[in-house]
Amino acid sequence: MKQSAVVAVLPLLAMAAALQVAADLAPPAGYTKEEDVTTYFIQQVGKFSVNVYKIAYMIYMNYVSTSQCWSKPAEDGGNYYWMVLSATNGSGTAGTYVSTVWGIPGSESKTWKLLSFNSTN
Ligand SMILES: *[C@@H]1O[C@H](CO)[C@@H](O)[C@H](O)[C@H]1NC(C)=O
Repeated sequence: MKQSAVVAVLPLLAMAAALQVAADLAPPAGYTKEEDVTTYFIQQVGKFSVNVYKIAYMIYMNYVSTSQCWSKPAEDGGNYYWMVLSATNGSGTAGTYVSTVWGIPGSESKTWKLLSFNSTN
């Protein structure tokens, strides 16, 4: 009796883990403005994310594209940007990453900040 209950629970846990990955690719609460990922500006925000990360960790990475981006206003006049992007690593393999960036549109790139950068793989 006890053993069959354990067997039934394991597939449910595996399913919950799979759903968690998909849920992570939706913007966090507050990011309600959908940005146009085809614009030069949003592509620059993506390149900035990858460049800061690769310099910080001294690894080879190359920005490829941004598949979704949402923003929310910050109290200081800037914006927070949450994005899902694709980048290749040292072996040329493309991976999916989620980054969060703060910045003021139109300002110098050096004032921008990379707040988080995580692989989804
Ligand atoms: C690139 O990513 C792939 C897939 O995640 C991984 O197997 C490989 O080790 C990575 N290569 C480098 C040089 O980081």
